[in-house]
Amino acid sequence: MRLIAVAFAALLTGAIALPANAQDRANPADVEAFYEGMFKNAKDDWKKKTVQDETQKVCSQHHNDLPQVEFDKVLAREKTNVKMPADGNVMGDWKSGEKIAQSGFGGRFNDKPGTVNGGNCYACHQLSKTELSFGTLGPSLLEYGKIRKYDAKEAAAAYAKIYNAQAVQPCSNMPRFGHNGFLSEQQIKDLVALLFDKESPVNK
Ligand code: HEC
Repeated sequence: MRLIAVAFAALLTGAIALPANAQDRANPADVEAFYEGMFKNAKDDWKKKTVQDETQKVCSQHHNDLPQVEFDKVLAREKTNVKMPADGNVMGDWKSGEKIAQSGFGGRFNDKPGTVNGGNCYACHQLSKTELSFGTLGPSLLEYGKIRKYDAKEAAAAYAKIYNAQAVQPCSNMPRFGHNGFLSEQQIKDLVALLFDKESPVNK
C-alpha cells in the first residue's frame, strides 16, 4: 500500500508523467496480479470469490456500460440464474425482514463462525421514514409495495431482484444475494414481505 501511496503522490506532484487516459490502459494482467496478491492468505472459498464469472467479466470489460447485444446476453443468462421458491410463495415475515435489512453481519473476515448473514439493505437504500441512517447508492424503497398496489406479480419480481439483481439490471451494483448463496430463500421471502406487507415500515 505504501508503494502505491508514494506512486500516487508522485503522480499528483507530476514527478511521473503518464500518457493521457493512462488509467484506461492499465495492463489487465498487472491489475489481476495485484488483486490476487491481496487475497494470498485468504481461505479457498474466499479466493473463489475473486474469480469473475462471465457476467462480471463482460461488465468490467465495458465499464458497466454494455452494448445492446451484450446487455441482452447478460439478461438472458442471469434470468436463468434465478431460483424462485418451490412453494410459489414469495412473502415471509416483514419483522424478520427488517432485521435482515438492518444487519451488516456475515461475510466478513472477523465474523465468528456460524454468524447469520445479513442483507445490509440500509447501506444502500432508504426503507423506512424513521431510520435516519441509510445509504443512497440505490434508490429509496419507501412505499415500495404501496406504489405497486401490493401486486403479487410485483412481489415475485422483487424476489427475483433480490435473488439476482443482474437478472433485472445487468451490471447492477446491487449484490446477487440468492445467486451467491449469501441469503437463504426464507431470508429473501422475509425481505419481500418487508417491501410488500401493508404493516411494514416501508409502506407506513
Ligand atoms: C451495494 C448497494 C446495494 C445493496 C447492499 C442493496 N442494494 Fe438494492 N439496489 C442497489 C442499486 C444500485 C439499485 C438500482 C440499480 C438496479 O436496479 O440494480 C438497487 C435496486 C433495488 C431494487 C429495485 C428498485 C426499483 O426501482 O424497482 C430493489 C427492490 C432492491 N434494490 C432491494 C434491495 C434489498 C431488499 C436489499 C437488501 C437485501 C438491497 N437492495 C441491497 C444497490 C444495493
